[in-house]
Amino acid sequence: MAARVIYSGATMYCSSVSLTNFRNYRQLDIALPNGPILVLGANASGKTTLLEALYLLATTKSHRTNVDRELVNWSARPELGVPAFARVSAQVRRRADLEVEIIIVRDGQEDTGVARKRIRVNDLPKRAIDLIGQVNAVMFTPQDLDLVIGSPDLRRRYLDIAISQIDPHYVRTLQTYKKVVLQRNSLLKSISERGLRPYGMSGSEEQLSFWDDELVRHGSYLLHRRLEVRGHLNRLADGIHARLAGTNETLEMIYNSSVADESVTALEAPGQQAIAEAYRARLRTARQDEFRRGQTLAGPHRDDLVFTVGGVDMGRYGSRGQQRSVILALKLAEVELMHESTGEMPLLLLDDVVSELDPERRRYLLQAVLEHRQQVLVTATDLVPVGREFLSRASLFETTSSGVLLERKG
Ligand SMILES: Nc1ncnc2c1ncn2[C@@H]1O[C@H](COP(=O)(O)OP(=O)(O)OP(=O)(O)O)[C@@H](O)[C@H]1O
Ligand SMILES: [Mg+2]
Repeated sequence: MAARVIYSGATMYCSSVSLTNFRNYRQLDIALPNGPILVLGANASGKTTLLEALYLLATTKSHRTNVDRELVNWSARPELGVPAFARVSAQVRRRADLEVEIIIVRDGQEDTGVARKRIRVNDLPKRAIDLIGQVNAVMFTPQDLDLVIGSPDLRRRYLDIAISQIDPHYVRTLQTYKKVVLQRNSLLKSISERGLRPYGMSGSEEQLSFWDDELVRHGSYLLHRRLEVRGHLNRLADGIHARLAGTNETLEMIYNSSVADESVTALEAPGQQAIAEAYRARLRTARQDEFRRGQTLAGPHRDDLVFTVGGVDMGRYGSRGQQRSVILALKLAEVELMHESTGEMPLLLLDDVVSELDPERRRYLLQAVLEHRQQVLVTATDLVPVGREFLSRASLFETTSSGVLLERKG
């Protein structure tokens, strides 16, 4: 029988998961242990889908689609006037146990319908921003390489999701900030259309100054937290990366801000006040450009990260293997960050990584996971790359083509 880690008070985990019409799962009700779990199954049997469901409960978003409708089983149909829906729920064991649930209701056809989410925590209706942080999870998949080589919005999104899970104020501020940018952009656009002269347009001077204040107020908090977390992750990731990649060159995540230059961003954790001042100065110099382009040009929504090892930009010059090590170190650092911030180990979801990593990095990762004593779901299509030690300590679950997940004992 696989070894089981009992809830120690320093880890959180999902003790049971229930899926209804969630992608290929018509109905699944399963108890999950804490500790390492191997999810074994052929291609297209639902391994990623199971991890996706848990990630959805943590972040309210799928990691592989922005189209929620796609999550609803495509054969699901309205019944007795109730529209087609998918449901994901879990019992979560942590300091205060809880039950979380997301229902995705699809109005219309499977390929065109509109989906909306209904969220409940302990049976009470909640907004998406209230669910984030109830279940903490870190996911690592081969597509995460895009974090190094893909577009800046992926890196911003990465930071936003990581911080949102540990800081409820960040989620709310981010939501408000996005609205402020939209409002401010529409004002700037109307100024730009009227010939770049805000002044003399009735009320627009006051309006702009109001939106400037809002932008700086919310944007400087976001930037303050991002820089703080960047510093924290850098400290944690560097040591992990050194062991993982067998190098003594420093891994550093550099934050390039559209708001403040290095004199502020290179500080370990610049205060919100200093950031707000830099932000105001930046808005003054950007004024004419903003009028011309009709857009907010400075703020956390325009920032980016660069990953360097020994000063070399990994996005530009890193090999695939180097880029993978950087991301893996970053994700393991995120686990530590969540642990330090919440006092509990988050769920770790590792999709397809055993087949993607070289044997040495795979051994390091699985060893680290065993030491972490957290609930970790590792997917694989066969046992060979998983290794004996992990296998002897993990609980084994098997996905089958009919959308069933079975626990294999012994
Ligand atoms: N909305 C949906 N309704 C029904 N089935 C779906 C839906 N979305 C995806 N599927 C199917 O679910 C199955 C499981 O997909 P999933 O990505 O979880 O497989 P997997 O086990 O991770 O496979 P792989 O080893 O190839 O990564 C696939 O056959 C996929 O086509
Ligand atoms: Mg998969």
